[in-house]
Amino acid sequence: MVEVTNLTKSFGEKIVVNDTTWTAKDGNITGFIGHNGAGKTTTLKMLTGALKPTKGTVKLNGIDITKNHLEAKKQFGYVSDSPDHFLRLKGIEYINLMADIYEVPTEERVEKIKNISTRLGIYDALDNTILSYSHGMRQKVMIIGALIHEPSIWILDEPLLGLDPQSSYELKQMMKEHVSKGNSVIFSTHILEVADKLCDEVLIIKKGEMQFAGGVEELKAKYESDDLEKIFLNLNGIEV
Ligand SMILES: Nc1ncnc2c1ncn2[C@@H]1O[C@H](COP(=O)(O)OP(=O)(O)OP(=O)(O)O)[C@@H](O)[C@H]1O
Ligand SMILES: [Mg+2]
Repeated sequence: MVEVTNLTKSFGEKIVVNDTTWTAKDGNITGFIGHNGAGKTTTLKMLTGALKPTKGTVKLNGIDITKNHLEAKKQFGYVSDSPDHFLRLKGIEYINLMADIYEVPTEERVEKIKNISTRLGIYDALDNTILSYSHGMRQKVMIIGALIHEPSIWILDEPLLGLDPQSSYELKQMMKEHVSKGNSVIFSTHILEVADKLCDEVLIIKKGEMQFAGGVEELKAKYESDDLEKIFLNLNGIEV
């Protein structure tokens, strides 16, 4: 579970996330939607401790990220919005590095890596350098690296971007399987059909202000529409 209270981030005078309070519950897939520059990545980075909040608190399974960073870090896996890291490493070397950091036992990791990389269709390419990979392939390796220690909370920043239909399907299935075991997933996306179909709850952010945080069905009832795209565009001042 992710519990966010009065979370605020300013860069100088500019407030980019303003006093947001919300929860991503266990057993739920929570979708984070908002226009470009709305504050999604900034928020997700504050969840992981990569960015320090100007104000407010973040608790991951009850552990405060700023007060107990090491313990909190064990609770989640994070896939950032850019997969262009560790380009000189081979895919398998990067995944093993992440497995080392999170102390995944050697005997366990071989099977796990094979399983997840086969599902995502990258197994055969793991011996090549990340530099030689396409965007989608890099994305897959980052996903495997983030999930290798089986964290209970998945924090994914536009994870489906650039994935082919089969891998996108597999990742969505993996998200469903993960929350069905009582875990939580929060991910940002611009694909409203995905948010509609996949999410139990959504967060809608506009210019750093949280406009809605709650169940998809509740959102539809509130705005008397079954069309998430229409609701989202209307909230952004566009009549469709
Ligand atoms: N280091 C920084 N210094 C100054 N402003 C920043 C910094 N990082 C982000 N911002 C600003 O914060 C705002 C929110 O950016 P953020 O990356 O969180 O948006 P986003 O919702 O993830 O957008 P996108 O959908 O395009 O990924 C933007 O106006 C951005 O310019
Ligand atoms: Mg972003």
